[in-house]
Amino acid sequence: MRKSRPRAPVTTALDRGPARYFHGRKLILRDFSEIAAEAIQGKAGTTFLIQGAPGAGKTALLTECESLAQKSGWETTEISSAALWDPNELQQSLKLRRVWKVGGGSVRVGISGNGEAEVSAERSPQTVKNLLQGSKNPLLLTLDEAQILGKENEFPADRIRTVRHVLNDVHNGKLDRPVIFIAAGLGTTVDAFSSLGVSRFEGRCLVTLGALGKEAERAVLRDWLTKEGLAKGDPSSWIDSIAKETYGWPQHILSYVDPALKQLGADKREMTAEGLNAVLEAGRAKRGAYYEQRVRGFDEEHRQTFASLFVDLPLGGSITGNAIRSSLTQEYGVAQADKLFRRAARQGAIDERRGRYVIPVPSMQDWLVSNYARAQDKAEASRLIAEGRARRVPELTPEPSRDVHEPGSRRDFGR
Ligand SMILES: Nc1ncnc2c1ncn2[C@@H]1O[C@H](COP(=O)(O)OP(=O)(O)OP(=O)(O)O)[C@@H](O)[C@H]1O
Ligand SMILES: [Mg+2]
Repeated sequence: MRKSRPRAPVTTALDRGPARYFHGRKLILRDFSEIAAEAIQGKAGTTFLIQGAPGAGKTALLTECESLAQKSGWETTEISSAALWDPNELQQSLKLRRVWKVGGGSVRVGISGNGEAEVSAERSPQTVKNLLQGSKNPLLLTLDEAQILGKENEFPADRIRTVRHVLNDVHNGKLDRPVIFIAAGLGTTVDAFSSLGVSRFEGRCLVTLGALGKEAERAVLRDWLTKEGLAKGDPSSWIDSIAKETYGWPQHILSYVDPALKQLGADKREMTAEGLNAVLEAGRAKRGAYYEQRVRGFDEEHRQTFASLFVDLPLGGSITGNAIRSSLTQEYGVAQADKLFRRAARQGAIDERRGRYVIPVPSMQDWLVSNYARAQDKAEASRLIAEGRARRVPELTPEPSRDVHEPGSRRDFGR
C-alpha cells in the first residue's frame, strides 16, 4: 500500500508542497531515520511533530520523511483528523479490504495485499485501535496541516476520548507494531497535541522548522536555475543576488524561482543583468504578498502594535510571549489581546522558538517595522541603538543542526 505522492508538475504553484529539489534538513532527516529504525527494533513507535510558520517547508519535509520511510519498507498513508476516531475513515486511508468469510463470523482484513490480520467481528468490533493493529508491518501515518487538531469542534464531543486514547497509544508505542505518526502544522500544533493529552515529546521528535542554511538555499536555487531553467553558464551571480533576498526561507526561494524560470525562458536561457533585475522585482512583490497574508485581518493599529514590539530588536531577535501579551493587553484588554496573540501565531506573523517569539523571517520583521512602526517608536529605537542601549534580550543562538540562518543583523533606520 505504498503511496507515493505524485511529483508536482512545474505548472502548479511552485511555492507550496513537496519539493522538486530538496536540500538541507539533514540532521532532522537523520533523526527521523534513527527513530524509524528504533521503532522497528522495539516494535513500538511515537509521534514525530514538525512545526513551523507558513512556507517554512513543513509539507516538503513531511514528504521527504515519508519517502525515506517507504525506502526502508514502511507502509505509509496520509490520514485525515477524522481517521483518529472514525474506523471507516481510517480504513479508507489504509485501503483495507474487507472480505466476509463464507459461513464464518470473522472478518478478514487485508492491507492492500501487504499485511493480513484476522479480526473476529464478535470479539473485537472494528475500532481505530484494532485497525492500526491489523498487521505487524511498520506503518507511518502522516497528517499535514495538523494544527487543525486543536480546532474547537474538530471532533464530535463523544469521540474526543477515543482520539486521546489513539494518540496516546501511538505516542507511547503501545500498538505492538512499529507505528509512527508524523504530523506537520503551524505554530499552534504542539498546543493542539497538548490539549489532547500528548505533551511530552522526545527531543528529536519535536522539530521547529526555521530557515534553510546558506548552503542548502544555494543548492536549491542552483538546481532550479540549471536543471529546470536550463540556464546557460555559471549561475553564481544570480544565486548570490537572489539569496540576499530570500533569507533561506523556502517559500521566498520559490517566489524568486518562479519568475526566474519565466525570465530564462524569455531570454533563451541566458542570464542577463536586466533579466536578473526583473526576477528580483517580481520576487520582492511575491515576498510582500506573503507578508500581507501573515497579517491578514490585522488592522493598521494592530500592525503598529506588533511593529513597536520588534522595532529595537536586531533582525531575528526574539521576545517573550508575556511581553507580547502584556503590550497587547494594555492596548486592547485581555480578551482581545488573547485573540490577537493566537491569531498572530496561527497565521505565522510570530513564531515560537524555544519559549520565545520571533517574526519568522528577518525580512518580514524589516517589512513590518519599516511600514508600520510609528515614527516616535522608530526615533526612540534609533536613539537607543546609537547609545548602545537597545533592548538586550537574549538572542536565539541558531541551532546549526536545524539549518537556521544566523539572526542578528541590525536595521538601519537612517536609510
Ligand atoms: N528543504 C527544501 N528544499 C527545497 N525546497 C523546499 C524545501 N523546503 C521547502 N521547499 C519548497 O518551499 C516551498 C514552501 O514549502 P512548503 O509548502 O513545504 O511549506 P509549508 O511550511 O508546508 O507551508 P504552509 O504552512 O503554507 O503549508 C515549497 O515549494 C517547497 O517545495
Ligand atoms: Mg504545507
